[in-house]
Amino acid sequence: MTGMAAHTHDDIDWAERIPALRSADRVHARTHAEIAARLVSHLADHPVVVDAGSGAGGMSAAFAAELARRGGGTIVLVDAVPELLDVAETAAKAAVERAQSDRTGRTDPDAPATETAGTGSTGQQQIALEQARAELAGAATAATVGRGHPGAEAVASAALAGQVSIERVRADVASAELAQLVQPADLVWAASMVHHLPDQQAGIAGLVTALKPHGMLALVEGSPPTYCLPWDLGIGEPGLERRLLAAGDRWFQRMRADMPGSVRMPYGWNTALAKAGLERVGSFSRLVDLPAPSDEAARNYVLEHIAWLASAGDEFVTQEDRDILRRLLDPEDREYLGNREDIYVLGTQTVHFGWRR
Ligand SMILES: C[S@@+](CC[C@H](N)C(=O)[O-])C[C@H]1O[C@@H](n2cnc3c(N)ncnc32)[C@H](O)[C@@H]1O
Repeated sequence: MTGMAAHTHDDIDWAERIPALRSADRVHARTHAEIAARLVSHLADHPVVVDAGSGAGGMSAAFAAELARRGGGTIVLVDAVPELLDVAETAAKAAVERAQSDRTGRTDPDAPATETAGTGSTGQQQIALEQARAELAGAATAATVGRGHPGAEAVASAALAGQVSIERVRADVASAELAQLVQPADLVWAASMVHHLPDQQAGIAGLVTALKPHGMLALVEGSPPTYCLPWDLGIGEPGLERRLLAAGDRWFQRMRADMPGSVRMPYGWNTALAKAGLERVGSFSRLVDLPAPSDEAARNYVLEHIAWLASAGDEFVTQEDRDILRRLLDPEDREYLGNREDIYVLGTQTVHFGWRR
């Protein structure tokens, strides 16, 4: 995780972590959709949503889909790492296309399950539907005349789903106030990003600058740990995952302390949001629950997650645990985690939010 970390303050090579971030996004797809639906339901029509530290774009995609379903809007991806912006932009565009396909009644068996509550028909959607039907009638005629015409279905889906603009900004959010980088936002979302900034409280203040009056800031931070392994794996001392999580904590502590200009934030996220001048501060958590036996997506996530903890916490575990982890992560070894039927994903995403006056 050392190496070319020129873009951020945390000595992490984020481009190298793209497969892990994508794998996490896959298992979080349903949770992301639930959170996006809940947050967007509080926003005005055609909102501007900024995803600060968008990573591989799992939540950007969930917001984009939700905006498409609710009549449109703008999503602005902000990240310090251009490779990640490419991946996030692709994910968000694909989500809009899926939302448009869903509107025409087609189903994509490969699409993640993102259907959530709160997507009922509104007057605005009804008008869009009628407009689409009118266009569909015209397009059907045009399609018989012009070979290059996109076709009735494409015209219908574009008209049915709200138009979603996807913008991208490459920036270090610790070096500039967000208001200098993006248009005024109804919602600024930042998941697992603020803790990578040297001064988290200053970072939050920078994010708040981009909010419109009465806009919302929402952060995913401080979620309880994710568990994936049985307590006794039958190899080595039981409780490996607990020890690994403790090692990960020590890595995290050092990651924060080693950041140039690092400032401690000795209070909780609700206090941090209140200190940033936000009101009606609160939080909610959503469960990420993929019970054993795991499907391929959950299995890949567990392997990526344990490999990350093993790598980050390497110097904080015993030699015995290090040797066991090497075996658990080796596809050729009979102890390979990927062959077990009892691995699972149980975690939470905790969202802290507050509103600008
Ligand atoms: C742990 S990832 C989280 C990604 C995504 N929000 C998620 O929840 O999966 C942290 C993200 O923040 C970005 N990041 C870290 N420091 C940053 C900075 N100073 N400015 C902008 N982006 C930053 C990284 O490039 C990475 O995409």
